[in-house]
Amino acid sequence: MHPTLVQYLPWASVGRALDIACGTGENALYLAQQGFHVDALDISEVALRQAQRQARARGLPVHFIVCDAVTFSYPPNTYDLVLNFYFLERRIFPLIARTLKPGGLLIFETFNWRHRQVRPEANPAHLLRPGELGQAFTDLGFHILTHKEEDNRTTLVARKPKAP
Ligand SMILES: C[S@@+](CC[C@H](N)C(=O)[O-])C[C@H]1O[C@@H](n2cnc3c(N)ncnc32)[C@H](O)[C@@H]1O
Repeated sequence: MHPTLVQYLPWASVGRALDIACGTGENALYLAQQGFHVDALDISEVALRQAQRQARARGLPVHFIVCDAVTFSYPPNTYDLVLNFYFLERRIFPLIARTLKPGGLLIFETFNWRHRQVRPEANPAHLLRPGELGQAFTDLGFHILTHKEEDNRTTLVARKPKAP
């Protein structure tokens, strides 16, 4: 699992979690091991088959869903924790806001504009601009707990406000 997840997970309440674009599921499996009820989605059947094999082998119940993160029907006010690691689809930002419970935590990490120094062929549309992620979730009303733009990665940890 990713070190950023291990670092910030203590800020989340254990409950329901959603891992968006989970790939082969290492983060989702880690969450299940920590006692979360995990839904994990990805568009790749191949990746999710591998994730499911791991889940069975380790006896960890994760609900893997093959779907497009853009068209997934995000249930409102449902998750205590949403992960978005190394996947950038700006259209889902409001859907992430909607699907978190009030007080729920978002942990988001992906490549930023500096990634083109390492991979010049990277599509700039898939890279975060300076300040972009923090601003997007500030605009959605979140409390920003951490917004780091270190090297070619941006990390955001933010909380959806509790209902008034
Ligand atoms: C770089 S991997 C990151 C996997 C995982 N989150 C991690 O950090 O290890 C990006 C993942 O996004 C998935 N993906 C790409 N487009 C997607 C979409 N529209 N909806 C859901 N998943 C998508 C890919 O299948 C791939 O597993």
